Amino acid sequence: MNIAVLGAQWGDEGKGKIVDLLTPNFSIVARYQGGHNAGHTVYVNRRKFVLRLLPSGILHDGITCVIGNGVVVDPQALFAEIDELKKAGIAIGDRLVISDKAHLILPYHRELDLLSEARRGERKIGTTSRGIGPAYEDKIARRGVRVGDLANTGSLAEAVRHNVDARNRIIAESKMDAEQVLADLAAFWKRMGPWVTDVSLFLARARAARRSIMFEGAQGTLLDIDHGTYPYVTSSNATTGGVCTGLGIPPRAIDGVIGVAKAYTTRVGEGPLPTELTGEIGNRLRESGQEFGAVTGRPRRCGWYDAVAVRYAVRVNGLDALALTKLDVLDGMRELQICTSYRCNGATLTEFPGEIAQLAACEPVYESVPGWTSPTAGVRRFADLPRDAQRYIARLEELTGVPAAILSTGSGREDTIIREDSVASRWGLELITA
Ligand code: IMP
Repeated sequence: MNIAVLGAQWGDEGKGKIVDLLTPNFSIVARYQGGHNAGHTVYVNRRKFVLRLLPSGILHDGITCVIGNGVVVDPQALFAEIDELKKAGIAIGDRLVISDKAHLILPYHRELDLLSEARRGERKIGTTSRGIGPAYEDKIARRGVRVGDLANTGSLAEAVRHNVDARNRIIAESKMDAEQVLADLAAFWKRMGPWVTDVSLFLARARAARRSIMFEGAQGTLLDIDHGTYPYVTSSNATTGGVCTGLGIPPRAIDGVIGVAKAYTTRVGEGPLPTELTGEIGNRLRESGQEFGAVTGRPRRCGWYDAVAVRYAVRVNGLDALALTKLDVLDGMRELQICTSYRCNGATLTEFPGEIAQLAACEPVYESVPGWTSPTAGVRRFADLPRDAQRYIARLEELTGVPAAILSTGSGREDTIIREDSVASRWGLELITA
Protein backbone atom coordinates (compact mmCIF):
# COMPACT_ATOMS: atom_id res chain seq x y z
CA MET A 1 0.00 0.00 0.00
CA ASN A 2 1.29 3.44 -0.93
CA ILE A 3 -0.52 6.25 0.86
CA ALA A 4 -0.30 10.03 0.54
CA VAL A 5 -0.68 12.11 3.69
CA LEU A 6 -1.23 15.79 3.00
CA GLY A 7 -2.72 18.98 4.42
CA ALA A 8 -6.45 19.62 3.96
CA GLN A 9 -6.38 23.23 5.25
CA TRP A 10 -3.78 26.06 5.27
CA GLY A 11 -0.84 24.02 6.54
CA ASP A 12 0.18 23.28 10.14
CA GLU A 13 -2.55 20.64 10.41
CA GLY A 14 -0.33 18.23 12.34
CA LYS A 15 1.01 16.28 9.36
CA GLY A 16 4.35 15.77 11.10
CA LYS A 17 2.76 13.83 13.92
CA ILE A 18 0.52 11.74 11.63
CA VAL A 19 3.34 10.88 9.23
CA ASP A 20 5.64 10.04 12.11
CA LEU A 21 3.20 7.69 13.83
CA LEU A 22 2.22 5.95 10.59
CA THR A 23 5.83 5.53 9.48
CA PRO A 24 6.41 2.05 11.00
CA ASN A 25 3.74 0.77 8.58
CA PHE A 26 5.91 1.74 5.60
CA SER A 27 9.37 1.15 4.21
CA ILE A 28 9.88 4.55 2.54
CA VAL A 29 8.69 8.10 3.30
CA ALA A 30 8.94 10.55 0.38
CA ARG A 31 8.57 14.35 0.38
CA TYR A 32 7.32 15.66 -2.97
CA GLN A 33 7.19 19.47 -2.72
CA GLY A 34 8.02 22.53 -0.64
CA GLY A 35 11.24 23.14 1.18
CA HIS A 36 12.35 24.23 4.62
CA ASN A 37 9.35 26.56 4.83
CA ALA A 38 7.65 23.47 6.27
CA GLY A 39 7.94 22.84 10.00
CA HIS A 40 6.80 19.38 10.99
CA THR A 41 6.74 19.12 14.75
CA VAL A 42 7.09 15.64 16.22
CA TYR A 43 7.29 14.69 19.90
CA VAL A 44 9.12 11.49 20.75
CA ASN A 45 9.39 10.58 24.43
CA ARG A 46 8.33 14.16 25.20
CA ARG A 47 11.30 15.47 23.22
CA LYS A 48 10.39 17.95 20.49
CA PHE A 49 11.81 17.67 16.96
CA VAL A 50 11.01 20.18 14.23
CA LEU A 51 11.71 18.71 10.81
CA ARG A 52 11.83 21.16 7.97
CA LEU A 53 13.28 19.49 4.93
CA LEU A 54 13.87 15.92 5.94
CA PRO A 55 10.81 13.66 5.73
CA SER A 56 9.29 13.03 9.16
CA GLY A 57 10.08 9.31 8.77
CA ILE A 58 13.72 10.06 9.50
CA LEU A 59 13.16 9.59 13.24
CA HIS A 60 12.62 5.85 12.70
CA ASP A 61 15.46 3.36 12.24
CA GLY A 62 15.49 1.47 8.99
CA ILE A 63 13.14 3.82 7.10
CA THR A 64 14.41 5.27 3.83
CA CYS A 65 13.56 8.95 3.36
CA VAL A 66 13.28 10.52 -0.07
CA ILE A 67 13.50 14.15 -1.11
CA GLY A 68 11.84 14.33 -4.52
CA ASN A 69 12.46 16.55 -7.52
CA GLY A 70 9.47 18.72 -6.54
CA VAL A 71 11.23 19.83 -3.36
CA VAL A 72 13.53 22.88 -3.28
CA VAL A 73 16.66 22.13 -1.27
CA ASP A 74 18.67 24.67 0.67
CA PRO A 75 21.90 22.72 1.32
CA GLN A 76 22.78 24.88 4.32
CA ALA A 77 19.39 24.20 5.93
CA LEU A 78 19.62 20.50 5.05
CA PHE A 79 22.95 20.02 6.78
CA ALA A 80 21.92 22.14 9.78
CA GLU A 81 19.01 19.75 10.24
CA ILE A 82 21.11 16.62 9.73
CA ASP A 83 23.68 17.87 12.25
CA GLU A 84 20.95 18.68 14.78
CA LEU A 85 19.58 15.14 14.49
CA LYS A 86 23.06 13.71 14.81
CA LYS A 87 23.47 15.57 18.10
CA ALA A 88 20.23 13.95 19.28
CA GLY A 89 21.69 10.54 18.42
CA ILE A 90 19.74 10.01 15.18
CA ALA A 91 22.01 8.87 12.37
CA ILE A 92 21.03 9.29 8.72
CA GLY A 93 23.60 6.90 7.25
CA ASP A 94 22.39 5.64 3.90
CA ARG A 95 18.70 6.21 4.73
CA LEU A 96 18.45 9.41 2.70
CA VAL A 97 17.81 9.64 -1.04
CA ILE A 98 17.81 13.02 -2.79
CA SER A 99 16.63 13.61 -6.35
CA ASP A 100 19.25 14.85 -8.79
CA LYS A 101 16.44 16.92 -10.33
CA ALA A 102 15.52 18.82 -7.15
CA HIS A 103 16.24 22.53 -7.45
CA LEU A 104 18.56 24.32 -5.05
CA ILE A 105 17.78 27.32 -2.91
CA LEU A 106 20.87 29.51 -3.06
CA PRO A 107 21.72 32.52 -0.86
CA TYR A 108 20.40 34.98 -3.44
CA HIS A 109 16.96 33.36 -3.30
CA ARG A 110 16.64 34.23 0.35
CA GLU A 111 17.58 37.86 -0.36
CA LEU A 112 15.15 38.04 -3.27
CA ASP A 113 12.35 36.67 -1.08
CA LEU A 114 12.85 39.52 1.42
CA LEU A 115 13.14 42.09 -1.35
CA SER A 116 10.04 40.89 -3.12
CA GLU A 117 7.99 41.04 0.09
CA ALA A 118 9.29 44.55 0.88
CA ARG A 119 8.36 45.72 -2.61
CA ARG A 120 4.85 44.32 -2.36
CA GLY A 121 4.19 46.50 0.69
CA GLU A 122 0.56 46.13 1.74
CA ARG A 123 0.11 43.29 -0.74
CA LYS A 124 2.82 41.16 0.85
CA ILE A 125 2.23 37.39 1.07
CA GLY A 126 3.77 36.96 4.51
CA THR A 127 6.22 34.33 3.27
CA THR A 128 8.55 32.37 5.53
CA SER A 129 11.49 34.30 3.90
CA ARG A 130 13.33 31.08 3.16
CA GLY A 131 13.78 31.81 -0.56
CA ILE A 132 11.13 29.29 -1.56
CA GLY A 133 9.26 31.42 -4.12
CA PRO A 134 12.38 32.79 -5.89
CA ALA A 135 13.87 29.26 -6.15
CA TYR A 136 10.68 27.97 -7.81
CA GLU A 137 10.66 31.10 -10.00
CA ASP A 138 14.13 30.17 -11.30
CA LYS A 139 12.96 26.61 -11.88
CA ILE A 140 9.99 27.70 -14.00
CA ALA A 141 12.10 30.33 -15.81
CA ARG A 142 14.52 27.49 -16.69
CA ARG A 143 17.56 29.08 -15.13
CA GLY A 144 17.56 27.14 -11.85
CA VAL A 145 20.43 25.08 -10.50
CA ARG A 146 19.60 21.46 -9.70
CA VAL A 147 21.18 19.12 -7.20
CA GLY A 148 22.62 17.00 -10.01
CA ASP A 149 24.35 20.05 -11.48
CA LEU A 150 26.68 20.10 -8.48
CA ALA A 151 28.54 17.16 -9.97
CA ASN A 152 29.41 19.12 -13.08
CA THR A 153 31.62 21.93 -11.89
CA GLY A 154 32.10 23.58 -15.31
CA SER A 155 28.46 24.23 -16.17
CA LEU A 156 27.63 24.86 -12.51
CA ALA A 157 30.16 27.72 -12.32
CA GLU A 158 28.73 29.28 -15.45
CA ALA A 159 25.12 29.09 -14.20
CA VAL A 160 25.92 30.38 -10.69
CA ARG A 161 28.07 33.26 -11.96
CA HIS A 162 25.32 34.26 -14.37
CA ASN A 163 22.58 34.09 -11.73
CA VAL A 164 24.58 35.95 -9.06
CA ASP A 165 25.48 38.63 -11.55
CA ALA A 166 21.83 39.05 -12.64
CA ARG A 167 20.73 39.27 -9.03
CA ASN A 168 23.43 41.79 -8.10
CA ARG A 169 21.97 43.98 -10.82
CA ILE A 170 18.50 43.71 -9.27
CA ILE A 171 19.69 44.61 -5.77
CA ALA A 172 22.07 47.50 -6.38
CA GLU A 173 23.63 47.51 -2.91
CA SER A 174 24.28 43.75 -2.95
CA LYS A 175 27.75 42.46 -3.66
CA MET A 176 27.24 38.72 -3.48
CA ASP A 177 30.37 36.84 -4.46
CA ALA A 178 29.68 34.03 -6.93
CA GLU A 179 33.03 32.38 -6.14
CA GLN A 180 32.08 32.08 -2.46
CA VAL A 181 28.71 30.55 -3.42
CA LEU A 182 30.56 28.04 -5.63
CA ALA A 183 33.05 27.15 -2.90
CA ASP A 184 30.19 26.48 -0.47
CA LEU A 185 28.41 24.35 -3.05
CA ALA A 186 31.54 22.28 -3.65
CA ALA A 187 31.72 21.55 0.09
CA PHE A 188 28.02 20.65 0.19
CA TRP A 189 28.37 18.31 -2.77
CA LYS A 190 31.10 16.36 -0.99
CA ARG A 191 28.63 15.52 1.78
CA MET A 192 25.50 15.27 -0.33
CA GLY A 193 26.81 13.38 -3.35
CA PRO A 194 26.37 9.82 -2.00
CA TRP A 195 22.66 10.43 -1.36
CA VAL A 196 21.83 11.82 -4.81
CA THR A 197 20.13 9.61 -7.35
CA ASP A 198 17.32 9.28 -9.91
CA VAL A 199 14.35 9.20 -7.52
CA SER A 200 11.79 8.11 -10.11
CA LEU A 201 13.89 5.04 -10.87
CA PHE A 202 14.58 4.41 -7.18
CA LEU A 203 10.84 4.44 -6.41
CA ALA A 204 9.97 2.27 -9.42
CA ARG A 205 12.45 -0.36 -8.21
CA ALA A 206 11.18 -0.05 -4.66
CA ARG A 207 7.63 -0.66 -5.85
CA ALA A 208 8.75 -3.64 -7.90
CA ALA A 209 10.36 -5.00 -4.73
CA ARG A 210 7.01 -4.46 -2.94
CA ARG A 211 8.36 -1.83 -0.56
CA SER A 212 5.51 0.38 0.67
CA ILE A 213 5.73 4.15 0.41
CA MET A 214 4.16 7.05 2.27
CA PHE A 215 4.07 10.31 0.32
CA GLU A 216 4.42 13.23 2.73
CA GLY A 217 2.94 16.60 1.81
CA ALA A 218 4.04 19.95 3.18
CA GLN A 219 1.90 23.09 3.63
CA GLY A 220 -1.74 22.41 2.69
CA THR A 221 -4.40 22.37 -0.03
CA LEU A 222 -5.38 26.02 0.46
CA LEU A 223 -1.71 27.02 0.07
CA ASP A 224 -1.32 25.10 -3.21
CA ILE A 225 0.02 27.30 -6.02
CA ASP A 226 -2.86 26.32 -8.35
CA HIS A 227 -5.73 25.30 -6.08
CA GLY A 228 -5.05 27.47 -3.06
CA THR A 229 -6.07 31.03 -2.22
CA TYR A 230 -3.85 32.57 -4.91
CA PRO A 231 -1.81 34.78 -4.64
CA TYR A 232 -1.63 34.08 -0.88
CA VAL A 233 -0.13 30.65 -1.39
CA THR A 234 3.19 28.89 -1.46
CA SER A 235 4.92 28.18 -4.78
CA SER A 236 4.40 24.43 -5.15
CA ASN A 237 1.64 21.85 -5.56
CA ALA A 238 0.82 20.61 -2.08
CA THR A 239 -2.18 18.65 -3.42
CA THR A 240 -2.25 15.02 -4.60
CA GLY A 241 -1.23 15.98 -8.15
CA GLY A 242 2.11 17.15 -6.77
CA VAL A 243 2.91 13.59 -5.64
CA CYS A 244 3.26 12.40 -9.25
CA THR A 245 5.11 15.39 -10.64
CA GLY A 246 7.25 15.84 -7.54
CA LEU A 247 8.54 12.27 -7.45
CA GLY A 248 8.21 10.95 -11.00
CA ILE A 249 5.66 8.27 -10.16
CA PRO A 250 2.42 7.34 -11.96
CA PRO A 251 -1.02 8.19 -10.44
CA ARG A 252 -1.81 4.49 -10.02
CA ALA A 253 1.10 4.18 -7.60
CA ILE A 254 -1.04 6.08 -5.07
CA ASP A 255 -3.41 3.64 -3.38
CA GLY A 256 -5.02 6.07 -0.96
CA VAL A 257 -4.98 9.65 0.26
CA ILE A 258 -5.37 10.86 3.84
CA GLY A 259 -6.05 14.54 4.41
CA VAL A 260 -4.89 15.95 7.72
CA ALA A 261 -7.19 18.61 9.21
CA LYS A 262 -7.33 20.29 12.58
CA ALA A 263 -10.58 20.19 14.53
CA TYR A 264 -10.57 23.98 13.98
CA THR A 265 -8.75 26.20 11.45
CA THR A 266 -5.47 28.11 11.45
CA ARG A 267 -3.49 30.10 8.96
CA VAL A 268 -0.14 31.88 9.14
CA GLY A 269 0.70 34.74 6.79
CA GLU A 270 -1.63 36.98 4.82
CA GLY A 271 -4.79 36.21 2.82
CA PRO A 272 -8.47 35.64 3.56
CA LEU A 273 -9.54 33.26 6.33
CA PRO A 274 -13.36 33.23 6.44
CA THR A 275 -13.76 31.72 9.92
CA GLU A 276 -11.04 33.81 11.58
CA LEU A 277 -11.70 34.73 15.22
CA THR A 278 -9.88 37.85 16.33
CA GLY A 279 -11.29 38.07 19.86
CA GLU A 280 -11.18 36.04 23.02
CA ILE A 281 -12.00 32.65 21.46
CA GLY A 282 -9.30 33.10 18.83
CA ASN A 283 -6.77 33.86 21.57
CA ARG A 284 -7.89 30.87 23.55
CA LEU A 285 -7.41 28.55 20.55
CA ARG A 286 -3.97 30.07 19.89
CA GLU A 287 -2.84 29.65 23.47
CA SER A 288 -4.16 26.18 24.17
CA GLY A 289 -3.27 24.93 20.68
CA GLN A 290 0.21 26.54 20.90
CA GLU A 291 -0.50 28.07 17.54
CA PHE A 292 2.81 29.72 16.80
CA GLY A 293 4.74 28.97 13.59
CA ALA A 294 7.19 26.06 13.91
CA VAL A 295 9.57 27.78 11.47
CA THR A 296 9.09 31.51 11.99
CA GLY A 297 7.47 31.64 15.46
CA ARG A 298 4.72 33.88 14.08
CA PRO A 299 1.34 33.66 15.86
CA ARG A 300 -1.13 31.72 13.75
CA ARG A 301 -4.55 33.15 12.96
CA CYS A 302 -7.22 30.87 14.44
CA GLY A 303 -10.86 30.20 13.64
CA TRP A 304 -13.67 27.66 13.71
CA TYR A 305 -13.66 24.54 11.56
CA ASP A 306 -14.44 25.46 7.97
CA ALA A 307 -16.27 22.54 6.37
CA VAL A 308 -16.52 24.38 3.03
CA ALA A 309 -12.71 24.55 2.80
CA VAL A 310 -12.18 20.93 3.87
CA ARG A 311 -14.89 19.69 1.49
CA TYR A 312 -12.96 21.47 -1.26
CA ALA A 313 -9.79 19.68 -0.16
CA VAL A 314 -11.67 16.37 -0.34
CA ARG A 315 -12.59 17.11 -3.95
CA VAL A 316 -9.23 18.43 -5.18
CA ASN A 317 -7.19 15.64 -3.57
CA GLY A 318 -9.62 12.74 -3.78
CA LEU A 319 -9.31 12.23 -0.04
CA ASP A 320 -10.35 8.80 1.22
CA ALA A 321 -10.27 9.82 4.86
CA LEU A 322 -9.34 12.56 7.26
CA ALA A 323 -6.91 12.49 10.14
CA LEU A 324 -8.53 14.95 12.54
CA THR A 325 -5.99 16.52 14.87
CA LYS A 326 -5.94 18.66 18.02
CA LEU A 327 -9.38 17.61 19.17
CA ASP A 328 -8.19 18.18 22.74
CA VAL A 329 -7.68 21.90 22.07
CA LEU A 330 -11.49 22.24 22.00
CA ASP A 331 -11.84 20.58 25.42
CA GLY A 332 -13.85 22.66 27.87
CA MET A 333 -15.53 24.95 25.31
CA ARG A 334 -19.25 25.15 26.00
CA GLU A 335 -20.36 25.68 22.45
CA LEU A 336 -18.63 25.18 19.11
CA GLN A 337 -19.37 26.61 15.67
CA ILE A 338 -18.92 24.80 12.38
CA CYS A 339 -18.89 26.77 9.13
CA THR A 340 -21.24 24.94 6.75
CA SER A 341 -21.48 27.50 3.90
CA TYR A 342 -20.56 31.09 3.05
CA ARG A 343 -22.74 34.11 2.54
CA CYS A 344 -21.32 36.21 -0.25
CA ASN A 345 -22.94 39.35 -1.74
CA GLY A 346 -26.40 38.12 -0.84
CA ALA A 347 -25.88 34.58 -2.18
CA THR A 348 -25.21 31.35 -0.31
CA LEU A 349 -22.09 29.49 -1.44
CA THR A 350 -21.59 25.84 -0.61
CA GLU A 351 -18.50 25.45 -2.81
CA PHE A 352 -15.17 27.12 -2.03
CA PRO A 353 -14.76 30.11 -4.39
CA GLY A 354 -11.77 30.14 -6.74
CA GLU A 355 -11.46 33.91 -6.85
CA ILE A 356 -9.68 35.68 -4.03
CA ALA A 357 -11.88 38.82 -4.03
CA GLN A 358 -14.98 36.66 -3.73
CA LEU A 359 -13.45 34.65 -0.89
CA ALA A 360 -12.50 37.87 0.89
CA ALA A 361 -16.14 39.00 0.69
CA CYS A 362 -17.45 35.73 2.17
CA GLU A 363 -19.03 35.59 5.62
CA PRO A 364 -19.19 32.20 7.30
CA VAL A 365 -22.59 30.64 7.97
CA TYR A 366 -22.35 28.75 11.25
CA GLU A 367 -24.08 25.85 12.84
CA SER A 368 -23.80 25.74 16.63
CA VAL A 369 -23.10 22.45 18.33
CA PRO A 370 -22.53 21.64 21.99
CA GLY A 371 -18.96 21.38 23.25
CA TRP A 372 -17.82 18.87 25.87
CA THR A 373 -16.67 19.28 29.45
CA SER A 374 -14.85 16.02 30.12
CA PRO A 375 -11.50 15.97 28.30
CA THR A 376 -10.59 14.22 25.06
CA ALA A 377 -6.90 14.85 25.84
CA GLY A 378 -5.00 11.58 25.77
CA VAL A 379 -8.10 9.45 25.03
CA ARG A 380 -7.08 6.36 23.04
CA ARG A 381 -10.40 4.67 22.20
CA PHE A 382 -13.24 6.23 20.23
CA ALA A 383 -15.81 4.86 22.66
CA ASP A 384 -14.05 6.71 25.51
CA LEU A 385 -14.50 10.12 23.90
CA PRO A 386 -17.22 12.31 25.40
CA ARG A 387 -20.53 11.80 23.57
CA ASP A 388 -20.58 15.39 22.30
CA ALA A 389 -17.05 15.02 20.91
CA GLN A 390 -18.23 11.89 19.05
CA ARG A 391 -21.19 13.88 17.70
CA TYR A 392 -18.90 16.74 16.63
CA ILE A 393 -16.71 14.29 14.69
CA ALA A 394 -19.77 12.66 13.10
CA ARG A 395 -21.07 16.06 11.99
CA LEU A 396 -17.71 16.98 10.42
CA GLU A 397 -17.73 13.66 8.58
CA GLU A 398 -21.24 14.33 7.30
CA LEU A 399 -20.35 17.83 6.12
CA THR A 400 -17.09 16.89 4.43
CA GLY A 401 -18.25 13.55 3.03
CA VAL A 402 -15.31 11.48 4.27
CA PRO A 403 -14.67 9.48 7.43
CA ALA A 404 -12.37 10.75 10.15
CA ALA A 405 -10.35 7.54 10.27
CA ILE A 406 -7.60 8.84 12.53
CA LEU A 407 -8.11 11.10 15.54
CA SER A 408 -5.37 12.87 17.45
CA THR A 409 -5.96 13.80 21.09
CA GLY A 410 -2.53 15.06 22.10
CA SER A 411 1.00 15.65 20.87
CA GLY A 412 2.48 12.21 21.67
CA ARG A 413 2.38 9.29 19.24
CA GLU A 414 0.26 7.27 21.62
CA ASP A 415 -2.41 10.02 21.89
CA THR A 416 -4.01 8.74 18.71
CA ILE A 417 -7.04 6.71 17.70
CA ILE A 418 -6.99 4.73 14.46
CA ARG A 419 -10.64 3.75 14.16
CA GLU A 420 -11.15 0.03 13.92
CA ASP A 421 -13.80 -0.05 11.23
CA SER A 422 -12.18 2.68 9.10
CA VAL A 423 -10.47 2.74 5.74
CA ALA A 424 -7.14 3.27 7.55
CA SER A 425 -7.62 -0.07 9.34
CA ARG A 426 -8.60 -1.74 6.09
CA TRP A 427 -5.32 -0.49 4.60
CA GLY A 428 -3.61 -2.24 7.50
CA LEU A 429 -2.42 0.94 9.18
CA GLU A 430 -1.70 0.38 12.83
CA LEU A 431 -0.50 2.49 15.70
CA ILE A 432 2.94 1.11 16.50
CA THR A 433 4.43 3.17 19.29
CA ALA A 434 7.30 1.00 20.51
P1 IMP B 1 6.50 30.64 1.33
O1 IMP B 1 6.18 29.21 1.16
O2 IMP B 1 7.62 30.89 2.31
O3 IMP B 1 6.73 31.36 0.02
O4 IMP B 1 5.21 31.37 1.99
C1 IMP B 1 4.00 31.51 1.28
C2 IMP B 1 2.79 31.38 2.21
O5 IMP B 1 2.69 30.03 2.66
C3 IMP B 1 2.88 32.23 3.49
O6 IMP B 1 1.56 32.62 3.85
C4 IMP B 1 3.42 31.25 4.52
O7 IMP B 1 3.06 31.63 5.84
C5 IMP B 1 2.72 29.98 4.09
N1 IMP B 1 3.46 28.77 4.47
C6 IMP B 1 4.57 28.27 3.90
N2 IMP B 1 4.94 27.13 4.49
C7 IMP B 1 4.04 26.90 5.45
C8 IMP B 1 3.85 25.83 6.39
O8 IMP B 1 4.60 24.86 6.46
N3 IMP B 1 2.79 25.94 7.22
C9 IMP B 1 1.90 26.97 7.15
N4 IMP B 1 2.03 27.98 6.29
C10 IMP B 1 3.08 27.95 5.45
